[in-house]
Amino acid sequence: MSKIYPVPAAFAARARVRKDDYARLYAESVRDPAGFWAGVAKRLDWIRAPTRIKDVSFDARDLHIRWYEDGVLNVAANCLDRHLAARGDKTAIIFEGDDPAVSRRISYRELHAEVCRFANALKHLGVRRGDRVAIYMPMIPEAAMAMLACARIGAIHSVVFGGFSPDSLAGRIADSGCKLVVTADEGVRGGRKIPLKANVDEALTRPGTTSVETVIVVRHTGGGIAMQAPRDRWWHVLMEGQAADCPPEPMGAEDPLFILYTSGSTGKPKGVLHTSGGYLVFVSYTHECVFDLREDDVYWCTADVGWVTGHSYVVYGPLANGATTVMFEGVPNYPDASRFWQVIDKHAVTLFYTAPTAIRALMREGEAPVKKASRASLRLLGTVGEPINPEAWEWYHRVVGDGRCPIVDTWWQTETGGILISALPGAIDQKPSSATLPFFGVKPAIVDTDGHVKEGACEGNLVLTDSWPGQMRTVYGDHQRFIDTYFKTYPGMYFTGDGARRDEDGYYWITGRVDDVINVAGHRLGTAEVESALVAHPKVAEAAVVGCPHDVKGQGIYAYVTLKVGVQPSDALRKELIEWVRKEISPIATPDYLQWAPSLPKTRSGKIMRRILRKIAENQPDQLGDTSTLADPSVVQNLVGERLVK
Ligand code: WTA
Repeated sequence: MSKIYPVPAAFAARARVRKDDYARLYAESVRDPAGFWAGVAKRLDWIRAPTRIKDVSFDARDLHIRWYEDGVLNVAANCLDRHLAARGDKTAIIFEGDDPAVSRRISYRELHAEVCRFANALKHLGVRRGDRVAIYMPMIPEAAMAMLACARIGAIHSVVFGGFSPDSLAGRIADSGCKLVVTADEGVRGGRKIPLKANVDEALTRPGTTSVETVIVVRHTGGGIAMQAPRDRWWHVLMEGQAADCPPEPMGAEDPLFILYTSGSTGKPKGVLHTSGGYLVFVSYTHECVFDLREDDVYWCTADVGWVTGHSYVVYGPLANGATTVMFEGVPNYPDASRFWQVIDKHAVTLFYTAPTAIRALMREGEAPVKKASRASLRLLGTVGEPINPEAWEWYHRVVGDGRCPIVDTWWQTETGGILISALPGAIDQKPSSATLPFFGVKPAIVDTDGHVKEGACEGNLVLTDSWPGQMRTVYGDHQRFIDTYFKTYPGMYFTGDGARRDEDGYYWITGRVDDVINVAGHRLGTAEVESALVAHPKVAEAAVVGCPHDVKGQGIYAYVTLKVGVQPSDALRKELIEWVRKEISPIATPDYLQWAPSLPKTRSGKIMRRILRKIAENQPDQLGDTSTLADPSVVQNLVGERLVK
């Protein structure tokens, strides 16, 4: 039996969703999804209210997902204009710089004006409805302004995490044919500069990027950069003279809002496409219910806008709800390990949402850095991105929350747009490490490898048997890949790629990915991407990459590399290859271990047996299972003898 943390009585008494509400509303939401989501949609301002609520088929032969199809709205107007009357002077964004001396508050009125001016600037540069715009930015308010300005004129943004390399950026720009890139001179994290503009310059020398006509540069650090006329334009110069009013473009609910690239088990990252109406209904409603949002809350989600959490729960969800959202440019341990807690005190943060990897890293520093801050304003804690181990959960609860704040462990994915499984803090008792129960309208199921739905307490693969409004609609430019990736494994169901257990109370426990996706410090990576970066090196013949347990990052990257004939392994070459991967993809893809493999274990048909490589990396050589199908079983003993994790 796992430990239960009941909803604190004081919290329950004034919660938005209370104990008896959950079961009733959930039952209603799955009995009549169209009726339920029609009601929820009223929380937005529609130019034309939707009457056709849900039209979905998960059948691969006729796959379609449509919500609020005949509705017309503008996402930016919902995040800004409609708040002006009652909340014009309320703070929309609190910017907290990497440097603790830097912070800035932007009211809804100011944000509205800046977004309109930037939207006009985009129009002036020829950006039209449906055009793609890449945003490669630090965590500064201009990133959110650029996203909202795109939404205002109906352009589709593609935010690329500022930690990605020029090659990764170029690949994403090329895949979606972006017309314009918004960037900054440099980013700063933990006192270290990131050469964003120089990376853009390099990316735009790569093939396939000629669609880019303009690069807009925010002067952020003031660092020296090269501006190329007429392509490059300064943000502040462009903004001069732009009108602070720009009529929002009326958009169909199913018109695209953004593309966000994410890693899968095979091939290049996929352009996950989200649309306007369903996405905004879903992120605003989940944000309000899961975080028990109130008018005077100060909400801080530490995610970068380069990831889906930054889209849904730094920008769109909170702003659609008229909340005050904190944007933090820095890192948890700069200038010291007390930074998060200092920021919470400085801005009187009430709702705090972060990743298990950050919690584990800070837990290592002990309680003193936490206790240096009062954290008295906090009333709710949240986690996202990877399974949280019970020790980290307990520490978060006891030390950070002083034992009085409920924790919402929110399970979801880039593809799901918003939170699907999570405690509702006033309604659902928590069990450390369990994401608990499905959100309204969400129908999870656990299947065995043959796709049979299991009942009661069980373990298997996690699927969703029906749609929700925030679901991705397609892979940009490759609808077949969307169907093949998510709807073919288990016909008629959306396959998440995660394994899960359900206990006797119906609580879900996510056990992690069951495919070739790894989750490194909350960053999602495909092992295939790291492999193709390695084999791109002239000295590498073959590579296989798997995840391995890591105390802080959750999962680390373990690479097996076969060198070309005649190339001698050496420590210098190992360093060179690790550095190569950082440059090719991003520092987040840095291999933790790189083992030389004279050859890799393969089946007779030549398929690499990753299951075996995973066990070796996990240091469980006694659990290799059946190796009789291997072409050459002696390969395995060789690798076990040389393994790097002891
Ligand atoms: C994992 C991040 C356990 C999971 C929002 C999922 C989690 C992948 C949790 C998606 C959680 C996310 N507990 N695992 N609370 N939240 N995951 O697309 O494996 O970056 O499939 O979206 O993260 O990662 P993504």
